[in-house]
Amino acid sequence: MNLLNEVNKDVWDQIKSKADQMLASIGDKSPHVAGTNGIYDDMRIDWWTSGFWPGMLWIVYDMTGDEKYKEAAWNWDERLSERFLENNYYDHDVGFHFLPTAVIKYKLTGDADAARRALFAANFLAGRFNTKGSFIRAWNGDMLGWSIIDTMMNLSLLFWASEESGDPRFSHIAKAHADMVMKQFVREDGSVHHIIRFDPETGDRAEAIGGQGAAPDSAWSRGAAWALYGLTNTYRYTEDPAYLDTAQRVANFFISSLPEDSVPHWDFRAESEEGEKIPRDSSAGAIAASGLLELAEVLPEPEGRIYATVAKRILSSLRDHYGTWNLPEHEGILLEGTGHKPAGQNVNVSLIYGDYFYVEASAKLNGWKHRIF
Ligand code: GLY
Repeated sequence: MNLLNEVNKDVWDQIKSKADQMLASIGDKSPHVAGTNGIYDDMRIDWWTSGFWPGMLWIVYDMTGDEKYKEAAWNWDERLSERFLENNYYDHDVGFHFLPTAVIKYKLTGDADAARRALFAANFLAGRFNTKGSFIRAWNGDMLGWSIIDTMMNLSLLFWASEESGDPRFSHIAKAHADMVMKQFVREDGSVHHIIRFDPETGDRAEAIGGQGAAPDSAWSRGAAWALYGLTNTYRYTEDPAYLDTAQRVANFFISSLPEDSVPHWDFRAESEEGEKIPRDSSAGAIAASGLLELAEVLPEPEGRIYATVAKRILSSLRDHYGTWNLPEHEGILLEGTGHKPAGQNVNVSLIYGDYFYVEASAKLNGWKHRIF
C-alpha cells in the first residue's frame, strides 16, 4: 500500500524544530527518561535505549539532508562498539543499539567500519541462541533460560547480517526464534506474554512471568507493540505468511483494546488502583503506529488501509494530546510514557524510545523509505 499521498508537512516541521531544540540541549548524552523537569537523564551507553537518540538524528538527516544531524550521529556506533571490549551489560538488545546507529549509517553513507561493527553485534546476538528451546537468551546474570517478547525487534539485525554477509545462519536463528515466539508467546486471542522461562538444558517451558506487564496472563501493551512490529518485519524478510497472520492477530488484539483516544493503557488488562487513572504508555502507541504502517504496506487493499488508518489515528492523538509542543524547554517529544509500572519505575514520563518511534512513524508518513528495523 502506498503511504506517500499521506504527506503531513506540518507535523514534520514541528518534529524538525523539536529535533533542533533537542540537539542543542541533549548533545552527547545517552538519554532514556525525562521526568517532570523535562530534562533527559544520561544513561550508561550499553543501556538498551542508547541507540534511539542517534537513530532519530539519522532519520532527520535522511529526511532533510542537513549535515548537522549526521555529524551529531556519526560516532555513536564507534562509541557503542568500543564498549564490547570493556566490562559491559550488552544483551539481546544489541539490535536496538546497532540498527539505529551502525546499520543505518552504513546504509546512508556506505561506511565500511559501521558495517563491520554491526556484523560483530549480529554475531554476538546469534551467539545467545539456545538450541534447546530455540530461543535467543534475553538478559544476563542468572536469567539463563529467559526469553522475552521484545527480542522480536532485534531480529532485524540478524536478517540484515545474512543479507549483508551472504551467510544464512543469522536468518536461520532469527526464524527459529520467531517460530518459538508464535508457539510460546502469542495467545489465541492475539495478546502476548512478556517473559517465558525455559529450562536451558532441556528447552522445556518452565513458566510464564508477568515481567513489565501486570501479571503472567495480562497484556502488556508495549510487548504487544514489539510483537506486532517484529512479526511484520520477520514476514518482510522471509515472506512466510505464518508471520503475517500472527502479526495481524496481535495487531487486531491491540487495536480492539485501545481506549477512546487511541493511546494504550500500559497494560490492556491492568486494573485501576484505588481511584487512580490507569497510566497510559505513549511509547506503546508510537511503536505500534510505526509497526502498523509496516503492516499496511505489506498487505493489499483494503486490508492494509485499515491498519494505516489506525496508525494515523494513534499518531494524531499523540500529537494533539501527548506532545510537548508548548513546552519548549522539555527535551522529550511525548508525555505519559510508562517504563516499568510493576517496579514503580518511570511512570508518566517521556521515554526516548517513544520519541524515536513517533519520529520514525511520522517520517514514514512523509515518504521516508529507508528502514532501521
Ligand atoms: N525492551 C524493554 C522495554 O520495552 O521496556
